[in-house]
Amino acid sequence: MKLAILGSGFIARFYADALVAQRRKDVITMVYSRTEANAKKFADDYRVPNYSISIKECVEHKDVDAVIIALSNDMHLESVLACASVGKHVLCTKPLGRNAKEALQMLQAVDKANITGGYLEDLCYSPKFLKSLASIKNGSIGEVIWAKSRETHPGPHSDWFWDKEKSGGGAMVDLGCHCIEISRNFIGKNNKPIEVMCWADTRVHPIDAEDNAIGLVKYENGAIGQFEVSWSFRGGMDLRDEVMGTEGTIWTNNFLRTGFEMFTSGKGGSYVAEKAESTTGWLFPVGDEVHELGYSHMFTNMFEAIENKVQPSENFYDGYIVNAIIDACYVSAKTKKWEPVIIEDWRGVAEKKETKKMNSYDEDHFLIKEEVLPSGEKKFIIKNKKTGSIEVR
Ligand SMILES: NC(=O)c1ccc[n+]([C@@H]2O[C@H](COP(=O)([O-])OP(=O)(O)OC[C@H]3O[C@@H](n4cnc5c(N)ncnc54)[C@H](O)[C@@H]3O)[C@@H](O)[C@H]2O)c1
Repeated sequence: MKLAILGSGFIARFYADALVAQRRKDVITMVYSRTEANAKKFADDYRVPNYSISIKECVEHKDVDAVIIALSNDMHLESVLACASVGKHVLCTKPLGRNAKEALQMLQAVDKANITGGYLEDLCYSPKFLKSLASIKNGSIGEVIWAKSRETHPGPHSDWFWDKEKSGGGAMVDLGCHCIEISRNFIGKNNKPIEVMCWADTRVHPIDAEDNAIGLVKYENGAIGQFEVSWSFRGGMDLRDEVMGTEGTIWTNNFLRTGFEMFTSGKGGSYVAEKAESTTGWLFPVGDEVHELGYSHMFTNMFEAIENKVQPSENFYDGYIVNAIIDACYVSAKTKKWEPVIIEDWRGVAEKKETKKMNSYDEDHFLIKEEVLPSGEKKFIIKNKKTGSIEVR
């Protein structure tokens, strides 16, 4: 597949690293950047044959089948519309829009142009995520009742992130989008998000947007998604997920303390891992960052989906739902109340309504808990189905 990348900054380079890392048949044939110097530097670094300072020229180029958007959030809508106008498949980084209104316009544009709209949510393609999701889907942990995802780091690397107009918000739209989509996958995408409760505050940085937030997303089947995000966490980038099911539990740590620890007095190279705060002392490097963050599996899924004319696992519809949840979170953070998630275009297949499962001990009793005590004695705590009284056997 012949690819254009719009943008030559931080994530454009991560994407290019993933695309050139292995012997892929997909090639970057074109890059766009605002300045000729940046476009040329990127083209030289990744041996890209064409570069341009015009988005239009880039997406229209004859050697481009699909376009990867790696631009600041305020440029996503305009870039998607440019791709749709010439019928080129488009893969857009997260968050899809600065808000659901923008995301819905992008979804409608790709639908109308009959092109693929891939949502580049890399953390839903990391090897640990994919294994976790497969285990959940095969029933290993039973019904998921709570899925928590955390992304915290000391704050982003470019000016525009800190400008609410350009980014659409703070840590919640920047990092919460990852966490929300991770939990939504674990809970099951056909379960409609119903309402949210959110705390958000600007605790450390002199900005208009929030630099810390916590949110709860309640789904139609009763499951709860929880996100924790921060732009003021010290010590690197903390990416962790926890899933609690009726038959099991999953904990993943994607970045810090993953089993690779290194000490250095400070001599030698300087890059350790994304958002690492130190290059001396005990460090937590990441083996193959583009692979462990999911970029490799993500692009494989995107290109195969385009070739097979199916939707990738993460697509513009998912990006829209995530934006709709985030919009509700911003309302809740202000009102300090549960607020509804407004979805104008719900496409989920109705899964199931909230259920409460009770295990039976015998015909007359529910089983609350069974436990082996230190003495070896087995104890059953049960509830009488008729009287409601709680007893021990
Ligand atoms: N894990 C991830 O998926 C991940 C990680 C980081 C960033 N991102 C996303 O990638 C996008 C870019 O972030 P980044 O970290 O690469 O930022 P960056 O600042 O490093 O790069 C942004 C790029 O956009 C260009 N740009 C900015 N404003 C522009 C404008 N008005 N017109 C044209 N071009 C403009 C810049 O020149 C640069 O090439 C954002 O949407 C961000 O949320 C995703």
